[in-house]
Amino acid sequence: MTTTSPTPARPAPVDMAHHAHLSGVFAPQRTEVDVDDLEVIGTIPDDLHGSYLRNGPNPRFDPIGSYVYPLDGDAMVHRLEIGGGAAHYRNRFVRTPMVVAEEAAGHAIWSGLTDGYTPSADEVGPDLAGTFRQLPDINIVEHAGRLLAMAEADQPYRLDPADLGTIARDSCDGAMAVGSTAHPKIDPSTGELVLFNYVLEAPYLTWAVIGPDGRTRRPPTPVEGVDRPLMIHDMALTARYIVLFLCPLVFDITAMLSGGSLLQWHPESGTRIALIPRDGGPIRWVDSEPMWVWHFANAFDNGADDAPGDGTVTVDYVEWTYPGAFAHMPQPASSALVRAVLDPARGTIARTVLGESADVEFPRVDDRLLTRSHPRVATVGKSGNDTGDRDSLWFHDLRAGTETCWRPGVAIGEPIYMPGAHHDYWGAFGTDPADMASYFYVLAADDPSAGPLATVRMPIRVPAGLHGAWSPAEPINPPVE
Ligand SMILES: [Fe+2]
Repeated sequence: MTTTSPTPARPAPVDMAHHAHLSGVFAPQRTEVDVDDLEVIGTIPDDLHGSYLRNGPNPRFDPIGSYVYPLDGDAMVHRLEIGGGAAHYRNRFVRTPMVVAEEAAGHAIWSGLTDGYTPSADEVGPDLAGTFRQLPDINIVEHAGRLLAMAEADQPYRLDPADLGTIARDSCDGAMAVGSTAHPKIDPSTGELVLFNYVLEAPYLTWAVIGPDGRTRRPPTPVEGVDRPLMIHDMALTARYIVLFLCPLVFDITAMLSGGSLLQWHPESGTRIALIPRDGGPIRWVDSEPMWVWHFANAFDNGADDAPGDGTVTVDYVEWTYPGAFAHMPQPASSALVRAVLDPARGTIARTVLGESADVEFPRVDDRLLTRSHPRVATVGKSGNDTGDRDSLWFHDLRAGTETCWRPGVAIGEPIYMPGAHHDYWGAFGTDPADMASYFYVLAADDPSAGPLATVRMPIRVPAGLHGAWSPAEPINPPVE
């Protein structure tokens, strides 16, 4: 007589209709289309040529077990191509082995990340048995001829820039062999892509560099002085330093095995900030109060080799009181756009809130100015509408010390800076919760709160998502300082 261990039952379907991030403007889009010459209200500037690419969680089939935003989902990449005053659209799922297997089955097989269920060999064959769903659904990055759908602390998927077809998982010449943040940074001056990655075992944190030729310039290198696994979502980059905020959100496997949460908030530990010299020199540390950071706008050195300055580092980012659903605190988490000046020599930090806009997120600058001083930041905010969706774009003029707001009356996504041949523009996707029609807005960078120059009506609903990138059709001149 033989015995076999019972196969765990497939988890039950998630109640999508009552899940805030699977319904309304977040409801997944299952249709893939190619549509030329979209309807435009207003006029697309004829000096704007390029593609806006955007990624986001978008489960291929109705999820089973659990669904935690923004950890779960499959990736869908949207591309809005603009040129000659016209706009064209294509969207595609990133076809990981999990998506391919589920498409063959016609339903979800993998569960949510947090409930630990994995499919058996009977369901998916020996190669995929016991695996977790791969999630290249956070960001999209173009570097050295690679178009990469980025995951959180994992290897990205490389896409075909011609048709957005999925090519393969890609270690990027080994620089991402152990994984990568979804938010690597490209230095426009050197063409280098700089990344970090966290893992749950020692050394916990590494960094790496890819040259403009796509070859690894620095393989994954441990960050010395890190003694526990921390969740770190984004990074900032200057000409001299990689800037990592080690906020006290700790991976605690012991707590999880005893029924607690894998992620534990430890405000008593404070935040440690690592300034890692890009030339490989010793790391400078700055201690600060506990805070949580999802996203950085940009950072720069005050006094690089070719300019006077005091050697401090300015970092603009969105600072949260704590990481929302990943911590249990009595007050709601709140955020603000903050400028921190770090002194690597003294180990000090001075923080200033920029403007009065509250509960903002998704800060972006002109990406041609990464690692250098930037005059403008745009963020997304909430005005307290019925749905709780983000519905406002904030434009922060850092030189004038002013900020303006534009509320289109729809749910709005991350802004993107789009340089034109003669003028520059901000763009963003939005969806009207009343009729679920989606739009792409083109705003003049010099006067964005005046409203859109062009409103592109999308042929299908573009779900609320995460991060995007502007890919110019041809090289754009550097910005005028
Ligand atoms: Fe992000």
